[in-house]
Amino acid sequence: MDYKIGVIKGDGIGPEIVTEAMKVLNKIGEVYGHQFYYQEILLGGASIDVYGVPLSDESLQLARESEAILMGSIGGNTTTSPWYQLPPNLRPEAGLLKLRKELGLFANMRPAYLYKELEGACPLKKEISEQGFDLVIMRELTGGLYFGERKTEEIDGVRYATDTLTYNEDEIRRIAIRGFDIARQRRKKLTSVDKANVLDSSRLWREIVTDVAKDYPDVTLEHMLVDNCAMQLVRDPAQFDVILTENMFGDILSDEASMITGSIGMLSSASLRDDPFGLYEPSHGSAPDIAGQNIANPIATILSAAMMLRYSFQLEKEAEAVEKAVQIVLEEGYRTIDIHSDNTKLVGTKEMGDFITKRIL
Ligand code: IPM
Ligand code: MG
Repeated sequence: MDYKIGVIKGDGIGPEIVTEAMKVLNKIGEVYGHQFYYQEILLGGASIDVYGVPLSDESLQLARESEAILMGSIGGNTTTSPWYQLPPNLRPEAGLLKLRKELGLFANMRPAYLYKELEGACPLKKEISEQGFDLVIMRELTGGLYFGERKTEEIDGVRYATDTLTYNEDEIRRIAIRGFDIARQRRKKLTSVDKANVLDSSRLWREIVTDVAKDYPDVTLEHMLVDNCAMQLVRDPAQFDVILTENMFGDILSDEASMITGSIGMLSSASLRDDPFGLYEPSHGSAPDIAGQNIANPIATILSAAMMLRYSFQLEKEAEAVEKAVQIVLEEGYRTIDIHSDNTKLVGTKEMGDFITKRIL
């Protein structure tokens, strides 16, 4: 089959890690008889440099014409990059938020899994890491604080900055349904995370999630406050199966979850809607400090490409082949610097991509 993939290389380490994921996809194409066509799309700083805006109409159109999008990462050093002298709506991140919103990608799935081989890289105590964990964060991606009205104003000589956190019940219901659907395919436990002891939006969240749960009697639902969840993730991550949460809480908790897998360079993600289209990107940022040095870990992007094969193209066998190849290379002891420890073999970005590509059979 033929597949048309929009490719956003982005900024910082983005181009390097996407190149490795494309190598892996091309090998999948060879082995399984598929043809992947790539259309490059500019976003973030790379787009600002060319068009003066982080997401141009042309790019948005190209994104709409793709069957799925594979992305690296966007943004620069927030204190030194000239992109951050621009007004907030013209900065790199605004382009990504707009793209997610325009494409209606409301469901962000971020799996966090501790590979046995990376137990040593996990910063948690041995008693905890040896239990392992395998969880998925289902993050609402197009509502809440990141999309609410915001303003900065001066009243009587004092500056005020305001951001608003709004959810309507339909937005909560559709992400809750996705969360329960995923939980049903896994260990059938869903933890809905909110701050219902303080926020109205969280109280509505809890009410709607509780209501959706009635259609999933086989899934165990628990509610957890976000501050407690942040603590539980480092105390006992094995207790979680699916964590369902709103946009900002999911942003924060997914960075925390990625770190306990050994490195933020391991966490893939899929941004989905109600049809097979999706945007696939690592959960980590553009790491401008290590860009261009061939030291970034491409695994999160490669695993995101596997999610693309599974969720946008329904190529389950092929997705598993990629995941298996990653597993084998880790078993063989190859590590980029972020997950390197004594008795493992240090490799660069390209070499890691090559080893994974070779293990696809
Ligand atoms: C992420 C990132 C983005 C987000 C930024 C770059 C806007 O942190 O994908 O987690 O907050 O969603
Ligand atoms: Mg984030």
